[in-house]
Order: sequence, then C-alpha cells, then structure tokens
Amino acid sequence: MPSDADTLIRLEGVHKSFGDQHILRGLSFDVRRGQCLGVMGGSGSGKSVTLRHVIGLLQPDAGRVVVDGQDMAQTSEADLAALRRRMGYVFQESALINWLTVAENLALPLEETTDLKPAEISDRVAHTLGLVHIPDAADKFPNEISGGMKKRVGLARALITQPEIVLYDEPNAGLDPRISRSINALIRELSDTLEVTSLVVEHRIDCLKAVADEVIFMHAGVALVREPIETFFDPDEPKLKEFLGV
Ligand SMILES: Nc1ncnc2c1ncn2[C@@H]1O[C@H](COP(=O)(O)OP(=O)(O)OP(=O)(O)O)[C@@H](O)[C@H]1O
Ligand SMILES: [Mg+2]
Repeated sequence: MPSDADTLIRLEGVHKSFGDQHILRGLSFDVRRGQCLGVMGGSGSGKSVTLRHVIGLLQPDAGRVVVDGQDMAQTSEADLAALRRRMGYVFQESALINWLTVAENLALPLEETTDLKPAEISDRVAHTLGLVHIPDAADKFPNEISGGMKKRVGLARALITQPEIVLYDEPNAGLDPRISRSINALIRELSDTLEVTSLVVEHRIDCLKAVADEVIFMHAGVALVREPIETFFDPDEPKLKEFLGV
C-alpha cells in the first residue's frame, strides 16, 4: 500500500451529475507523486469531467478531490489558486485566445503568475515552442496554424509554467505519427526526469504504452479497471475487452 505521502492526487467516491445525467458515480483513484496514470473510457464516460475536478474547475456533488493533502472543496481561494499554479492542463480543444499570437498566449500564464522579466519570458516561450517542435509559430495567430499545431501550442501553454502536475486531455489528438512519438517521449521525459505527476486521457494505445505506468478504465462512472501498462491491454474484465475489441 502506498503511504499518503506518496499520493499527490486522490479522488474519493466522487459523484457528479449534469441535470438528470449521473456521470461520475463514486469515482475513486489516486495518483502517486511522479506517476503517469493513463485514463481510458468511452466517449462521454466522464474523462474530461474528471480532469476538470482535479484542477478545481468543477466541484463534486459528493465525495472529495484531494490534491497534495488539500481537499479542493475546503481550501481557501488563495490556496486553491496556489494549487492550480502547480498544475498544467492540456485542454481537449486547445482553448487558445484567438486575438493573441502564439507567443502571447504562452507568455500570459507567466505574466500572471511569475515575476519573470520580459526577456526571461521570451526565452521561456522560445524554449517551450522548441520542445513541442514549432519554433516558428511564435508570431502566428491561432487561426493561422493547423489543428495539430494548435494542440502543441496547448501543450506548450500547459508546460510553460513548469508545473508539478500535468493533466493531458488527448495529447495525441490531431498529431501525425512522427510528431505523436516525439510528444509522447516528451511526456515520458517530464515524468522521468522532472518527476512531473501526470494524468493522461488517451484512446491511442501506442500513446499509453509510451507514457503511462498504469491505466484506469472508466465505465459507468467508476474506475472499473486499474492495471499496470504491461497487463492493461490483455484484460479479463468483459467491459474492457469489449471496449478494446479483444
Ligand atoms: N458543463 C457541462 N454541462 C452539462 N453536461 C456536461 C458538462 N460537461 C460534461 N457534460 C456531460 O458529461 C458527460 C461526460 O463528458 P466528458 O466531456 O467528461 O466525456 P469524455 O469522457 O471526456 O468524452 P470524449 O472521449 O468524447 O472526450 C457528457 O455526457 C457530457 O455531455
Ligand atoms: Mg473528453
């Protein structure tokens, strides 16, 4: 059993409904410090909703979300803001600000949350664009770049503050296989070298195999299966078999 000190994110019996749709029905799982946990599940099973609970954009109807020992519903606004500053969120839809250039989109979180000087900010922006292989996108507006490039700008924006926790919502969506491989290597490297704790929502098996050490399968509002990456894709659970088509 991992001790509490090893656990960075914990969901305990989380319930969430929207109108008469009961999406999360007692969802519980934890993520250890430095771990990369994959999340699979059908479309509409509540994966994005789960990530939004972790970052505090949604509150559970019942149950608790605990990050670094702090119950997200019980913390002060100031503590919640401080916790959020330690997290990066790669939105499923890249959610960039259309009237700002790529570089301005990336600079914004640094301007808002750090004391970095303008020259340091532009260095960090250039460096992070390099990490996601779009060094030349800085001066373009979001509507001037491709879907896959937008996804990578979204990734860069999540990483720019060098967060301890990164929540990835389909990081491979819209990327060609070569770019996917290098983004997956980046996700894995952040986890291995900087001990970033990651939650990765992905349908792509190659991505999960490249980045995750364990995977959960969300079904009917709970984490129905949790298995190490080595065994996840060879399941006994009938619902997961059906989902994977194996
Ligand atoms: N703010 C909201 N208001 C009302 N319903 C919502 C809201 N957010 C999510 N839902 C509903 O909750 C369900 C789960 O949504 P969610 O976005 O988490 O699915 P998902 O597992 O991420 O699916 P996908 O793989 O398609 O991205 C859906 O039925 C969705 O319509
Ligand atoms: Mg989603």
